[in-house]
Amino acid sequence: MKPEPYRFNGLNLTNAQTKIDEIADKFSKHKLIEFNGCDASNQERYDFMLKIGSRLNWKVDFDVPGQVQFTYEEDHHLSVEAAQQAEKNNDNDIVVAWHLEHPYGRHPQLGALWYMDKKICPKECGTTGFIDTRVLLQMLDTDDYDFLSQSEIAQMALYFDNENDDIETFSAIETGSNRDFITIKHPNQQTVYPSYLRKPINPHYITGEELLRINPKGHYTKNGYRGHDRLVRFDGRKPTDLEQQRFNSINEWLYSNVQNNEDIAYFKHWDEGDALLVDVYSLIHCVRGGFNIGERYLKGIWGFPNVPDLPREPEQADQTESPRSFWTDQI
Ligand SMILES: [Fe+2]
Repeated sequence: MKPEPYRFNGLNLTNAQTKIDEIADKFSKHKLIEFNGCDASNQERYDFMLKIGSRLNWKVDFDVPGQVQFTYEEDHHLSVEAAQQAEKNNDNDIVVAWHLEHPYGRHPQLGALWYMDKKICPKECGTTGFIDTRVLLQMLDTDDYDFLSQSEIAQMALYFDNENDDIETFSAIETGSNRDFITIKHPNQQTVYPSYLRKPINPHYITGEELLRINPKGHYTKNGYRGHDRLVRFDGRKPTDLEQQRFNSINEWLYSNVQNNEDIAYFKHWDEGDALLVDVYSLIHCVRGGFNIGERYLKGIWGFPNVPDLPREPEQADQTESPRSFWTDQI
């Protein structure tokens, strides 16, 4: 039931390129490939992602000149700070909530290489949890499956998510950003928030297996807001209040199932120099606490779907494009 990483004997990121086909094969089944004791340079990690990306049809680099690679660095300092303030930063506390990776994009990430570049806290601290969304879908009852099959959802920021908010008043603007986001603007707020309509039950891009792609209720982000998925359309139209409530209760069920369910969650205990190749399209993940700012430093490289990039000019696009209906223009 819980994800189990596949490990190749004697393989690290430096020599992994000799076994790309086998890695791709095991990756499709296990969703996680683990490499221990790596001493791989940035370039070696990137070369590996290019190789495995070409095998899995991931895009690892922009095709727009002058834009940076799909790399990022993460110490979760905002989440750790918030957890410390709330006195919830023990090794069993979840400091980065269970989430899907960037589900608000039209073309969200499919995979990632996560490399623990620095870790000076104890091994039992700063673990990363993984739950397979195939398993979550299997736990749904038939009626909820049918309900979600007719649903379209989008991730919203919490400060928009007020009982009295009428979601119809949101407007959508094509941003023209590199990964093809839509920004959603609340009429009473200046802040824009990127999101994109999606179906909560989606086939996997390689195996075709169905996944439950709902963000479980809440999601802390680097910017400090907390968003979650809302039902936006049902059966092609605006949902009724009852349908909205039903979606919210499915989300509550999902949240309570992932929050404390050790039967379905695998937790990776990191050492410095460990790497994980992760199917972030299939696996929701979280980070547990017990570490201080600066004690745990992860470097990641994303694998995106292999679609053309657009130039990244969201601010200009926001000013020049006129808002359009959130209901009719998407998808
Ligand atoms: Fe994440």
